[in-house]
Amino acid sequence: MKDILVTGGSGFIGSNIVLELQSRFPEARITVLEDFRSSCFKNLLGFKGDLLAYDCSDRAWMNWAKGKKLDIIYHMAAITDTTILDEQKMMFDNVEGFRNVLDLAVEKKAAVVYASSAATYGSIDRPIKESDAGHPNNIYGYSKWIMDQLAPSYYDKTKVVGLRFFNVFGPREYYKGHAASMIYQLALKMMEGHRPRIFKWGEQKRDHIYVKDVVTATLMAHKAKVSTVMNLGTGQATSFNEIVDALNEALGTNHKPDYFDNPYSFYQNFTQADMSHHEKMTGFRCRYTTREGILDYVRNYLLKK
Ligand SMILES: NC(=O)c1ccc[n+]([C@@H]2O[C@H](COP(=O)([O-])OP(=O)(O)OC[C@H]3O[C@@H](n4cnc5c(N)ncnc54)[C@H](O)[C@@H]3O)[C@@H](O)[C@H]2O)c1
Repeated sequence: MKDILVTGGSGFIGSNIVLELQSRFPEARITVLEDFRSSCFKNLLGFKGDLLAYDCSDRAWMNWAKGKKLDIIYHMAAITDTTILDEQKMMFDNVEGFRNVLDLAVEKKAAVVYASSAATYGSIDRPIKESDAGHPNNIYGYSKWIMDQLAPSYYDKTKVVGLRFFNVFGPREYYKGHAASMIYQLALKMMEGHRPRIFKWGEQKRDHIYVKDVVTATLMAHKAKVSTVMNLGTGQATSFNEIVDALNEALGTNHKPDYFDNPYSFYQNFTQADMSHHEKMTGFRCRYTTREGILDYVRNYLLKK
């Protein structure tokens, strides 16, 4: 894989992918396509490749590819703030951006690994299989669901692998602001000496995966036996009370949760990825449990700032 395009490459997950690719494959020609709507160039300090400052839903950027080789596209660009309710904008930017990426991949015979989301599932209170998708709670999840339905129409033309990320946390999520992970937001509060505020009674469980595992899985994904969409989580559900415990352990503090009523009726009270399909496709297994990811994140990144 010599010629690589990463869309959304200065974003949280995208920048972790770009910098890992650069370190693993110093000979590769890496280009980032990025319009900086929810990120900052500072996530890419140290990146030595090229950068196209375009919106990927605007086909203008595709001129760049004329006469160029492309082996693989990692498509991370998307509106990621789930509180954005403008349905036309969410659908246009996320779905048309993906369509452009798929069209270019076919032309270049490049593989595509793209970010889908556990938001395609909605509320399911048991380990979630890929076949459970199609009941998103918001327009963001719906845009990812439409992307997942678009992808198979390209399967016979090139390799396309979708990853339904569960809740990702880790270094370089700062520029997501209020859309950054709960783990990050709780850690910041606790580092400032405040009690962590969580919904009553902290027993809601989510599958929180560390970004280092997300990068590893993403870079393995093109080896999937066939084009497919697959879950990417730890396979375990961790409660918010357990997250507060892990944060206290990492920070050496003893903050008790400050519980408050959950105002959201559509809140996902439980998510847990069934990882069996993914494991069959690539053999990927997480290296970090959620607790271990929190310890690494806090001790080696947040406390070192
Ligand atoms: N972080 C998570 O927990 C999570 C969970 C499920 C899915 N995802 C998906 O993973 C991908 C990466 O998410 P992230 O958490 O790194 O978010 P992020 O907001 O940090 O990254 C998205 C990046 O894409 C860029 N972007 C957005 N729309 C664009 C467009 N039309 N053209 C060019 N650039 C554009 C943004 O500026 C940003 O840099 C997204 O597709 C997201 O939907 C993330």
